[in-house]
Amino acid sequence: MSELCIRGGNRLMGNVVINGAKNAAVAILPATILVDGVSTIENLPNIDDVIILNKAIQSLGATTQFLDEHTLEIDASTLNNTSALDECISKMRASYYLIGALVGRFGRAKVAMPGGCDFGGRPIDQHIKGFEAMGATVKIEKNMIEVTAKQLVGARIYLDVVSVGATINIMLAAVLAQGTTIIENSAKEPHIVDVANFLNKMGANIKGAGTNVIRVRGVEKLHSGRYTTVPDQIEAGTYMIAAAITGGDVYVRNIIPEHMESVSYKMREMGIGIEEGDDYIRVFSNGRLKSTNVKTLPYPGFPTDLQPQMSVLLSVADGESVMIEGVFENRFQYIDQLKETGAIIRVEGNKAIIQGVDVLKPATLKATDLRAGAAMILAGLKSEGGETVIHNIKYIDRGYEQVEKKLSALGAQIYRQ
Ligand code: UD1
Repeated sequence: MSELCIRGGNRLMGNVVINGAKNAAVAILPATILVDGVSTIENLPNIDDVIILNKAIQSLGATTQFLDEHTLEIDASTLNNTSALDECISKMRASYYLIGALVGRFGRAKVAMPGGCDFGGRPIDQHIKGFEAMGATVKIEKNMIEVTAKQLVGARIYLDVVSVGATINIMLAAVLAQGTTIIENSAKEPHIVDVANFLNKMGANIKGAGTNVIRVRGVEKLHSGRYTTVPDQIEAGTYMIAAAITGGDVYVRNIIPEHMESVSYKMREMGIGIEEGDDYIRVFSNGRLKSTNVKTLPYPGFPTDLQPQMSVLLSVADGESVMIEGVFENRFQYIDQLKETGAIIRVEGNKAIIQGVDVLKPATLKATDLRAGAAMILAGLKSEGGETVIHNIKYIDRGYEQVEKKLSALGAQIYRQ
């Protein structure tokens, strides 16, 4: 199994181009199941999660073909199987979108229970509440969820927690349902807007995506079309932090700067230079960072998917910072790994109290999940006096395209072995 090796200390300089958003891609691919025709999706990131979902959709009977590295054509008109029970699928969080899409188009779905990164309990009760409100019957058996409905009927659904997954999944189930579905207290993440834009382009009638009330008026059928995935907010944030932690000067390109506002704001507070253009952000720093406090929240708050990376940045800021995890019950499992690099962090419940140090030291680390893996890379970039080795990089490959190539091009000493 391969690992990443990093010799830190280099300032990152130059340009990095951000790929399409993982969390949009892993929802849009299942959403193509709703289309009785051909969907051509551009700007897909070339990452393991996309490859797994492509195979899952093929095994359901769709014909798919990569037109190039980032463009996938999916003909779901031939799709006829409604069971997705493969072991690969159960390792992914986004497999839950197969449920909404399959039940939305065929009135039945049998899908392996979703897995994904372990941040404590990750229930799907709000997804189920939505399906049931629309008239579906939900059965959960060992490691499998089965949803059936003679006819899904639009309903008014209030989400008890702001959930990205439940918002998108209910939207998928509602697109071809009879009547109008209203999702209240919906999540507002950029990828929710992106999934709605994709569905609307194919003929759906969704209004309000990006606000906390989404209205989906059921339509008879979705038609063929072409769509381009939104840039990845989390990949962009990770490279912004990489530039800052190395005292570098990097143009993070092909992004929507508005999506990065919570991150840019915190970085400015830390004394980091941020310059915004139409589709890029320049991040520059002399390496001296001020401490600050951060709380993760649903969008437009600071993203939980950048919490581990930001915690590494705070580990080398001047003074004490507090990081509060406001979305998941347990997303500090990586802190023990980070401490191996000399970071001084104390976890109290959902709070990490971080005492800044000047520099981190090389260590042998393991990625405990996708974004924690990115955080370990950042720690390696800031370490001095030897080589940091990161194991378990399969997690990183699930969500970052060519991470070592992109960092090498910016001047980092990083390679895979
Ligand atoms: C998605 C993202 C993940 C990101 C997260 C929050 C994908 C594939 N994954 O995960 O990268 O970290 O959004 O931005 O897009 N909850 C419930 N009941 C539910 C659903 C959620 O209690 O039915 C809780 C969760 O435990 C969590 C909170 O709601 O505490 C938010 O979770 P949610 O937004 O649903 O996250 P995911 O869709 O799992």
